[in-house]
Amino acid sequence: MKRISFDIFSCEQMNEFGLKIANALPNGTVIALVGDLGAGKTTLVRGVARGLNINEVVQSPTFNIMKLYLKGSRPLIHIDAYRLADINTDIGLDEYIGYETGLTMIEWPHFIENLLPEDTLWINIKSTGENSRHIEVYSSNDSLVEALK
Ligand SMILES: Nc1ncnc2c1ncn2[C@@H]1O[C@H](COP(=O)(O)OP(=O)(O)OP(=O)(O)O)[C@@H](O)[C@H]1O
Ligand SMILES: [Mg+2]
Repeated sequence: MKRISFDIFSCEQMNEFGLKIANALPNGTVIALVGDLGAGKTTLVRGVARGLNINEVVQSPTFNIMKLYLKGSRPLIHIDAYRLADINTDIGLDEYIGYETGLTMIEWPHFIENLLPEDTLWINIKSTGENSRHIEVYSSNDSLVEALK
């Protein structure tokens, strides 16, 4: 299990990390975003969307659970599983996770952990100050982690 960690000190740096993800990770990658409320999960998805030339506004899809962006250089699927916390129902999300021509990013992934592939790329975001965040990246697929070095 390869692991990297680093610190960032601004939203702009989170955005840059998103651009890197957009450029470096292969289609079909599933990215699980772990962090408290306000850690910056959606902010990172916005950076990825920008890197994929998606012009639509990326909001927390809390009310949709899932949003699919198809107008960029490749598809981006944004899932926020927060509201699935207490629902033990198959709502068909597995059809979209790992959608082979794009990237899937999942906030609150633990609520749908049984749907995540073995080689999910995990990104933990921890707030260490108003604008600073500690980031940890790991996956059983070392090449995904290597790509973000
Ligand atoms: N370095 C940083 N990276 C990301 N966000 C930051 C950073 N510094 C400050 N922020 C602020 O922290 C907040 C992060 O909010 P965001 O909606 O991205 O969190 P979230 O993890 O998606 O929360 P939720 O669990 O509620 O969906 C924003 O207001 C953003 O401006
Ligand atoms: Mg969010």
